[in-house]
Amino acid sequence: MYLSFLIFQDMSSKVTKIGVLTSGGDSPGMNAAIRAVVRTGLYYGLEVYGITRGYQGLIEDDIIKMNGRSVANIIQRGGTILKTARCMEFMEQEGRQKAYDNLKKRGIDGLVIIGGDGSFRGANKFSSEFDIPCIGLAGTIDKDISGTDFTIGFDTAVNTAVEAIDKIRDTMDAHDRVFVIEVMGRDAGYIALHSGIATGAENILIPERKTDINSIIKSLKEKERRKKMVNLIVVAEGDDFGGADQVSRVLKENLPKAEIRVCILGHIQRGGAPSCLDRIIASRMGYHAVESLLQGRHNVFVGIQDNKMNYIPLEQAVKTKGKISDEWLDIVKILAS
Ligand code: F6P
Repeated sequence: MYLSFLIFQDMSSKVTKIGVLTSGGDSPGMNAAIRAVVRTGLYYGLEVYGITRGYQGLIEDDIIKMNGRSVANIIQRGGTILKTARCMEFMEQEGRQKAYDNLKKRGIDGLVIIGGDGSFRGANKFSSEFDIPCIGLAGTIDKDISGTDFTIGFDTAVNTAVEAIDKIRDTMDAHDRVFVIEVMGRDAGYIALHSGIATGAENILIPERKTDINSIIKSLKEKERRKKMVNLIVVAEGDDFGGADQVSRVLKENLPKAEIRVCILGHIQRGGAPSCLDRIIASRMGYHAVESLLQGRHNVFVGIQDNKMNYIPLEQAVKTKGKISDEWLDIVKILAS
């Protein structure tokens, strides 16, 4: 719970024109969030502007006025109609000055940023330098932001991973093989953990825990002795031991007779139609972002915790590190035995 004086500003300076942008890696549901911001803004009589390619478009003045039709028929589409980018120039004061000048020129006095913790840190720096209130919406497939139970895109990404892993399991089982499947998650193991549990993986390797490769080798040798060589290993790309290629290389060295295959799911996890849950989360967050700007609640990002909206100061936007409880890993161990 954060003190309200930290995040409420002068109510007399009400916003009239707002901009919305998507920043960093895209995630399914970003379009639903854009739609919610635009339609809520228009409902309250605001002018709403779409900024293309994240902060890059802000710097390059690539800004378009949106209307209700601009966001028609997008709630079900993956990607982002506004496009996205990771913008280095915005990390420099000169870049942020250009961005501010472009907003000022149009009279845009509020900004909604849909992205991850890096994008929020950029917004925080920007709003501390210039008088533009910013509201973030947590959009990343990795679910690696503190203070929210959900991020836009995570549910869809996990379901995509589950669908793919189920298919791999069929062929793995038919051939009695070991599969090492790499899923996304540079700093967080949530996609690996959720998709691994949901597909009955024997081992799940995540950045939040030190990987004990020797115990995996030991259990595979035991399986080899019993001639039961089916084993699914789901590894997050950011695991401390390395990705799927590294894991499989070491397993092959130690189990030369085993048939070990690797599959890296990659960007397939970032695309596709958003799940129902992601559309709902995005719609709720988008609506509350505009409400927040109108109420004078500034420089926070919108999360959802215990099914309630949670407003976290942008300056506290940090990655969830090591937050996975042992209970989850016990479930993996017990259910795979
Ligand atoms: O942050 C989301 C994410 O999908 C990570 O899981 C992954 O490491 C990264 O983005 C990939 O980024 P890019 O598309 O820029 O290669």
